[in-house]
Amino acid sequence: MAIFLTGSTGFVGGRLLKNLLNDTDQQLFVLVRNMSKGEELVQTFPEEQQKRITLLRGDITAPEFGLTSSTLSMLQNQIQTFYHLAAVVKFDEHLRDEIFSANYDGTKNTLKIAHQLRAKRFVYVSTAYTVGKREKGIEQLYPINDDVHNPYEESKVQSEHLVFDYKEDMEVIIFRPAIIVGDSKTGEADSKFTLYGFMRALDVFKRRVARKHPEATYRLIGDERATSNVVPVDYVANILALGATSAKPNTIYHITNPQPTNNFKSLQFVKDALDFPQLEIIQPHEADDLTETERALNDMIGVFKPYLTRDFVFDDSNTQQLIEGTSIEHLSLDDETYRMIIEAYFQAK
Ligand SMILES: NC(=O)c1ccc[n+]([C@@H]2O[C@H](COP(=O)([O-])OP(=O)(O)OC[C@H]3O[C@@H](n4cnc5c(N)ncnc54)[C@H](OP(=O)(O)O)[C@@H]3O)[C@@H](O)[C@H]2O)c1
Repeated sequence: MAIFLTGSTGFVGGRLLKNLLNDTDQQLFVLVRNMSKGEELVQTFPEEQQKRITLLRGDITAPEFGLTSSTLSMLQNQIQTFYHLAAVVKFDEHLRDEIFSANYDGTKNTLKIAHQLRAKRFVYVSTAYTVGKREKGIEQLYPINDDVHNPYEESKVQSEHLVFDYKEDMEVIIFRPAIIVGDSKTGEADSKFTLYGFMRALDVFKRRVARKHPEATYRLIGDERATSNVVPVDYVANILALGATSAKPNTIYHITNPQPTNNFKSLQFVKDALDFPQLEIIQPHEADDLTETERALNDMIGVFKPYLTRDFVFDDSNTQQLIEGTSIEHLSLDDETYRMIIEAYFQAK
């Protein structure tokens, strides 16, 4: 039997595909919106492995993904594990419709098709930030109307409920990664979002504004008690791959960092890598007299504010159990590795 994947042309999906090619001998049906992007991805794998990949052109928001009825009949009863990763990873309120269309309507459609194909298990990649405004993340569904920070979190909370609605029809599994960063060995990351969106915004600000006034300092509002919960993409992909084998049905798994880095330290790493010494990090109560430029800077990164000013605690007991006895070690990300991952982003640019 085969594996079906959505979102493989993305940052995490590409890494998961690589793991599944290495860890299983199954055929992989990969849904892509853009065939040439898909073909480029396939070319990155050894020839023997390429033969196991079938690209299918489709969109998760289109009826039956836009696949032909003969393709759908061919897939019928063939899918052991259906991985759903495709999503819009943006947080802005003004993008609510786009976010909900891909993340919520797209997931509803994907579940319907997986069920129609009689897939045995459905693995959904959500986010640890379905925790919303709670302090502590638990490996259970949160109430559907819980308080959240943005439409992205909201779309993921609601989609998790959609997934569990199918638990009588398929084995359902939800993985919730925290903020995914580059590879723990090379720093390599093919992402424009989350931490990378934040770093890009600071880089743009530095080039547009700070370079013109190198003597000025620019204050960024943070919170010294807050932490950044980042997880390297290789750790995430290794755990997601267990979704096809040993993950337990009807279970939620946090892929989080048990010792998240203090935010002042994270921002210092970004500041050093960006060579932006004029950037100062201040506490919210010190922010009364921000200049217009500083307000613009803080607005620019406003969507990241919840993640800069909060200290979330995530229970990852289910994940610890899942990796027990495998070659995956529970995450311990030291400062040097985290710094290397951040530096790698600016070096690769
Ligand atoms: N990155 C993180 O820090 C993070 C953290 C926690 C959870 N997650 C979750 O992990 C998953 C993957 O995230 P990522 O960082 O890899 O995102 P990404 O790099 O933006 O990739 C998104 C993927 O979804 C595909 N996609 C989007 N809309 C689609 C549509 N309508 N039809 C078909 N495919 C569509 C994209 O295809 P194209 O290549 O055609 O655009 C791409 O392959 C998401 O579910 C996200 O919520 C990510």
